[in-house]
Amino acid sequence: MRIGIPKEVHPGERRVAGTPRTVKLLIQQGFEVVVEEGAGFAAEHLDSMYIESGATITTDVKALWGESDIILKVHTPQMHPQLGEHEADLIKEGGCIIGFIWPAQNEEVLAKLNARKASVLAMDCVPRITRAQKVDALSAMANAAGYRAVIEAVNVYPRFLMGQSTAAGAIKPAKVLVIGAGVAGLAAIGAARSLGAIVRAFDTRLEVGEQVRPMGAEFLELDFSEEGSGSGGYAKQMSKEFLEAEMKLFAQQAMEVDIIITTALIPGKPAPKLITAGMVESMREGAVIVDMAAQQGGNCVLTQPDKLVIHKGVRLVGYTDLPSRMAIQTSWLYASTLVNMIDEMGGAENFTIDLENEIVRGALVCHAGETTWPPPKKQVAEPSGEPEQPWTEEQGVETKRGSATKEKSKLGVIVLLIFAGLALVGLGMTAPDTFLRHFTVFVLACFVGWQVVWNVAPALHTPLMSVTNAISGIILIGGMLHLSGAPTEAITILGAIAVFIAAINVSGGFLVTRRMLSMFQK
Ligand code: NAI
Repeated sequence: MRIGIPKEVHPGERRVAGTPRTVKLLIQQGFEVVVEEGAGFAAEHLDSMYIESGATITTDVKALWGESDIILKVHTPQMHPQLGEHEADLIKEGGCIIGFIWPAQNEEVLAKLNARKASVLAMDCVPRITRAQKVDALSAMANAAGYRAVIEAVNVYPRFLMGQSTAAGAIKPAKVLVIGAGVAGLAAIGAARSLGAIVRAFDTRLEVGEQVRPMGAEFLELDFSEEGSGSGGYAKQMSKEFLEAEMKLFAQQAMEVDIIITTALIPGKPAPKLITAGMVESMREGAVIVDMAAQQGGNCVLTQPDKLVIHKGVRLVGYTDLPSRMAIQTSWLYASTLVNMIDEMGGAENFTIDLENEIVRGALVCHAGETTWPPPKKQVAEPSGEPEQPWTEEQGVETKRGSATKEKSKLGVIVLLIFAGLALVGLGMTAPDTFLRHFTVFVLACFVGWQVVWNVAPALHTPLMSVTNAISGIILIGGMLHLSGAPTEAITILGAIAVFIAAINVSGGFLVTRRMLSMFQK
């Protein structure tokens, strides 16, 4: 099977959809790889490097598109400036293309690709589920963009970011406000903190405060209760009242902070306008706003996409090509997600468009001449005659079950409780006194433990490991006490097993806790 990697024709794009490293991986999988001459040049990847990795270099763009089974791209196919033809018209009939497609905004391109009966996988439509992390190109790019946003801000900010005490006088650290602590926002917080700034962050999803605070930033909260989390780990659109309340907060903050980095966005919606002209004018001279949502209309009313605007001394950065400004690494990160996607689709030997694979189905926007986006909502176990009730939703995958299933499980719990009750009564009547005392402690410990774990947010389950350590420590002591002087050999053996298992738990707990702490160390 042949994979073609054309040079990106989008103005200013430096990234490439395959690097010498990822091309080598594809060739090892059994693919033949053809790269357009100079495709990686802007990302510092010379043609000779691709040849060394085993690829073939071509100058014949039409042949590359028309003879490759799979085309790897960064941008949506567009008019080729040198050929005067649309890239979508060049694809092999029935071929496959993988790249950023943005199906909602590119209906015409989808129609052209459908005319060629192409299978189109949009990396921007990959479902945000745990199994899909290795193909999550959007997050990989947003992470790089968040970091770069801080670098671009510092580049036009005419002051120090960190505080300094010099013989000539003391310099205060800059204050940075990050609005929207998603992937890009968290990366921006990390970068700004590491440069010595005082960082504040705001997000409608209160749970991200748990990620913001350990990074050394202050998480701003409103005195306004409204749940900001939607389905599938994304935010939901907030009420008008909430937006007004948060804008009041931003108006206060604008007068205090030196740099604002805004990333607020709800997928598929225009960016909310959160920074008014008045707020911009209230900032001190030399202040900077980096509006990462510029492409979706911007969070600031004065943002101009792809431009640096100076408004009354405040610099407004609206660049939409932040990942492209770090093309060496972002090309590699992006190309790696493509390799993982191809691997998910069966590699060279078993490459198929498996409609049952939720990652592939989520990303598939055209197939066999039809637009297949948005993906259908998955239906599971429907009771007959009962109205359907949605119970969970993750990235368009809606799982439904009927009330009959709920009734069944309720009945099961009641039966189980009755049996457990009867067993306990039977035990109480027959078991010896000493056993009953230990057994009561055991049951209570199970109950307390269950309550503790149940009431801890899933995000804190890893820190809970350290508590488990302490508990395992007690088991360890118990086991050790039984190792010597036990009345029977069986007790000694059980004691040894307890010591062994508890030791694994203690050391494992310490290892996990250490790894967790090192994530927050410089
Ligand atoms: P994300 O979905 O992970 O994060 C967006 C965050 O904004 C979420 O945490 C959400 O809760 C928050 N949010 C939504 N509405 C809000 C509101 N009214 N007030 C405060 N917070 C709000 O998205 P990600 O991947 O971090 O991307 C962020 C932005 O950066 C997007 O606009 C994306 O298109 C843009 N981006 C820009 C690039 C560039 O070159 N300029 C490159 C990559 C991403």
